[in-house]
Amino acid sequence: MIKYLTILVIAVSSISAVSVKFSGCRSHGVHGTLTTVDVEPCPAEPCALPHGKNITLRATFTPSVDSNTFKSSVHGIILGLPVPYGVPHGSLSGPIVSGQEVTYTNTLYVSPAYPKIRLNVEWEVLDDHHRDLFCFIIPVHITS
Ligand SMILES: *[C@@H]1O[C@H](CO)[C@@H](O)[C@H](O)[C@H]1NC(C)=O
Repeated sequence: MIKYLTILVIAVSSISAVSVKFSGCRSHGVHGTLTTVDVEPCPAEPCALPHGKNITLRATFTPSVDSNTFKSSVHGIILGLPVPYGVPHGSLSGPIVSGQEVTYTNTLYVSPAYPKIRLNVEWEVLDDHHRDLFCFIIPVHITS
């Protein structure tokens, strides 16, 4: 029974997680190659971020540098201006090793206080020296 449930959960989560189209950030040198960005849930693009929900973001990338630490930096681009957006630092399993693919996971809580607008989200993860390991932009819209 437990085995059956586990399979069911994996099947359901692989349906709701969507690899979304992303673009690189302007004027940023990056020290890694980003392969996929998954957003869950995201039934259709641009991803809808419903008020009061947690959105899970998963990025797979191969760094071209080693790093012991990492830091997440997220901005909403509103009317062309980057507005800082506080997120937890997310997780990566252990130190980052150049050439070894890793998966970064983070959760974003969509506060009901956020205005219901369409915007671009710029997501960066920085290394020990505050250099970008990756940086991408995805369009989203905040819904109720
Ligand atoms: C969102 O995540 C936070 C932190 O893990 C948790 O406390 C909260 O209950 C979650 N909210 C929902 C709506 O899932």
